[in-house]
Amino acid sequence: MSGSYKKHFMPRFFPVRFKSGPTFVFVFFLFGYVFQGCRSGTTGEKNAIPTDSATITSGRMIFIRNCASCHGFGQDGIGPTLGGITEAVAANWLLRFIKHPQQVIASGDKRADSLFKRFKSLMPSFDAIPEKDLLAVLAFLKTHGSSRADLLQEHDGNIADPIPEKIKFSGLTANLVPVTQFPPSAAPGKFPKTRITKLAFSPGSGDLFVNDLRGKLYKLKNNVPRVYLDLPGLKPQFIDEPGLATGFGSFAFHPDFIKNGLFYTTHTEKPGSGKSDFTYPDSIKVEVQWVLTEWKASNPAADTFSGTSRELLRINMVSGAHGVQEITFDPLAKPGSADYGLLYIGVGDGASVQEGYPFIPHAGGKQTGNE
Ligand code: HEC
Repeated sequence: MSGSYKKHFMPRFFPVRFKSGPTFVFVFFLFGYVFQGCRSGTTGEKNAIPTDSATITSGRMIFIRNCASCHGFGQDGIGPTLGGITEAVAANWLLRFIKHPQQVIASGDKRADSLFKRFKSLMPSFDAIPEKDLLAVLAFLKTHGSSRADLLQEHDGNIADPIPEKIKFSGLTANLVPVTQFPPSAAPGKFPKTRITKLAFSPGSGDLFVNDLRGKLYKLKNNVPRVYLDLPGLKPQFIDEPGLATGFGSFAFHPDFIKNGLFYTTHTEKPGSGKSDFTYPDSIKVEVQWVLTEWKASNPAADTFSGTSRELLRINMVSGAHGVQEITFDPLAKPGSADYGLLYIGVGDGASVQEGYPFIPHAGGKQTGNE
């Protein structure tokens, strides 16, 4: 089959009003996809899945970095369980799907289409990963069969179905109203088009700010996003890969921002960009450094940032996953209380447990620098 293929990936904000009960306004993202026409792309090649342990180990690392956030082996997550997948589906189909999920779905492929209908979200394309490495991932997947013993091992002690009762419909309905749309930050034709992660009001002014993992902090003015701070422009070592969680992780405004101009950001930089405050033995690779920065705006009411900054904390991490994804101030703390102006920093394990270094988060790594 042939034809045109088109997709839309537009995060939007919607206030939501419930028909019964009090009126709430909250905001979330809608990721919409529209497919038109279809295109097929069979390779016709035969691909044998390698079985040697070196390839399986390298496949495991690639899987952890790129796939584990959505896929497991015992039960469905954001994506379907991949336990037993190499027994259920031919290697050629798997390679084709992993490289271009959108194309395979749009081609009308039955399996892909029904998965998309079930999971209602689109898997990103991995055509940038060389075929040799994708075969290594398949080699790793092949070590996870669908047998019961395998499942039991994966989910030892977990509850298979925590809520066995059927969930009743509440009768509430939600009306969705488009509020705004963010400009794409991906290169043309690349997916996802934006990587919006957080929205927060700045205390005092009530202005709404939103960040894109690829580096921009937007301030909404009459619902139109304008770039307030361009992190890559100000931090030359900024990176937003590998993985789906790297880049501009989070931001938080000091409760007195409108008076003191202070706010905070976290982002990733290339390994070795600066001296890390938390390190571990140098036999273990560093894949990214997470950096916490304090910014001081010279005019807190301005629509574009200008002012100064200082680095507060730098952490070495073994992978791009599970980083410093959230920082915040207690929004309910009152002036004078111990919590007022106290910055909370959520630090993940950098996936060091999955990568085989559980002692890094447990031992707290080695703190070498400032408090
Ligand atoms: C952001 C989430 C996400 C990531 C990351 C992701 N997937 Fe998926 N994957 C999905 C979803 C969702 C589906 C179901 C199809 C759809 O809706 O696109 C899927 C489907 C699949 C399927 C088809 C399963 C079947 O039963 O036929 C395979 C195979 C697969 N993914 C492998 C991978 C591999 C390998 C990686 C890493 C290189 C990966 N995925 C990364 C979300 C993801």
